[in-house]
Amino acid sequence: MSAHEKFNFQTLSGLRGKIEALAADIRLQEDLSPLGARVRVGGKETPNAIAVLPMEGCDSLPDGSPSELVERRYTRFASGGAGLLWWEACAVVPEGRANELQMMLTRENLPKFAALLARTNAAAAEQNGADHHPVNILQLTHSGRYSRPAESGPRPIFPQHDPILDARSGVGPDDPPVSDAYLESLPERYANSAVLAREAGFDGVDLKCCHRYLLSELLASHTREGRYGGSFENRTRLLVEILRAVRDAAGPDFLIACRFNVFDAHPYPYGFGCDRDDLWQFDQKEPLRLVRLLCENGAALLSNSAGNPYYIYPQVTRPFDVSSTGIPTPDEHPLTSVARLFSFTRLIQKEAGPVPVVGNGYTWLRQFAPNAGAANLADGACRFVGFGRSSFAYPGAPRDILQKGRMSPEKCCITCSKCTQIMRDHGRTGCVPRDGEIYAKLYQTYREAAALRE
Ligand SMILES: Cc1cc2nc3c(=O)[nH]c(=O)nc-3n(C[C@H](O)[C@H](O)[C@H](O)COP(=O)(O)O)c2cc1C
Ligand code: SF4
Repeated sequence: MSAHEKFNFQTLSGLRGKIEALAADIRLQEDLSPLGARVRVGGKETPNAIAVLPMEGCDSLPDGSPSELVERRYTRFASGGAGLLWWEACAVVPEGRANELQMMLTRENLPKFAALLARTNAAAAEQNGADHHPVNILQLTHSGRYSRPAESGPRPIFPQHDPILDARSGVGPDDPPVSDAYLESLPERYANSAVLAREAGFDGVDLKCCHRYLLSELLASHTREGRYGGSFENRTRLLVEILRAVRDAAGPDFLIACRFNVFDAHPYPYGFGCDRDDLWQFDQKEPLRLVRLLCENGAALLSNSAGNPYYIYPQVTRPFDVSSTGIPTPDEHPLTSVARLFSFTRLIQKEAGPVPVVGNGYTWLRQFAPNAGAANLADGACRFVGFGRSSFAYPGAPRDILQKGRMSPEKCCITCSKCTQIMRDHGRTGCVPRDGEIYAKLYQTYREAAALRE
């Protein structure tokens, strides 16, 4: 019998019983006050310890600027009351977009971002009190192997051949890996985007290094030759060069964050943070070295993630009840997957010391997520509790947690993976069951179009 089970808990004690039966390292507490504590991030302070994790909607306008759906999403997030708003993946170069509607900030469209930020900040204050000023971080990305800048199909820019991922990502056996010269051009592009983000009113940028996009895959490029492959120093070189370029260009008071994979669940020599003989065995040595490197170079905020959402183990990134089409249900209880994510954050926060780390993996716990989050904060196992899919489904959850002391079960994300399915079908995404007015119809349309392509 599979160890996987769907969420089926009515009470905290029921959930606690299952956690104990599985011996999963998850603590729950009833006192939710740690979630309301202000958190210092560099020279800024957030009004509480709840974060909206980056959640891309694949729904910007073709020039990368915010569409009506983007405006709606961030107004809902900001109104919801989280102290930290981590904006979604925003491409630093057109060829690095993951889809033709991925967000992209340019000199030309900067006024639209500035206007949107002004409106979302106003909405945050209007709904949560005049002194509620969330910290806004923009995630900068290059999609690398998963670049698909036009509808016509994938245009992978990959650091090394990978026998497992090549065929799945449109890389042919004779295609050349990205050149060192191209990689060397990127720090300036990240720096440009950071300067624009600052002008638009963001408090900082994240150098996205997770989920096997370009910087994340580089961390694992053991077989790549040249300056950016092989040794740990080479595999982290581009990330550090970008970090320094961004700091020099945007100034010391502009926050630099990094959301990075600590564990790829991918075999050596193609995965990061994995034991050489067993891809399911976490090897902490290099991830901890990476944390030290990031902190020494001025990173003010970290968020750890794991796994590859494009591969067959998405539970490593986001524990779920139902997987998307063609993805097997794992032989692992979602609580075990949640505990794995919590354990990574605990470790990273310990290494990062005063630098705050945003934890994730909470959404599967539904209305009991605040109990786990408060316990992790109280234990010093993270400084922020981050909500990903929950923010799509239930953007007002932070306010309900902080003001009412509870989340409403009927508004919670049910981890059905339909938002992921829309992404896989190359559509504009959001929550299908909880925001059905917009996304139920879109889901159906994209599914039908995908069926015709299959
Ligand atoms: C539809 C969708 C879009 C996402 N977009 C991003 C993104 O732009 N950047 C990122 O770092 N993670 C992204 N993620 C991952 C989430 O931020 C988060 O790590 C993951 O969903 C686990 O957190 P949760 O259990 O709270 O959902 C996305 C996830 C989903 C399902
Ligand atoms: S579609 Fe909605 S309920 Fe389903 S996983 Fe996504 S956010 Fe959660």
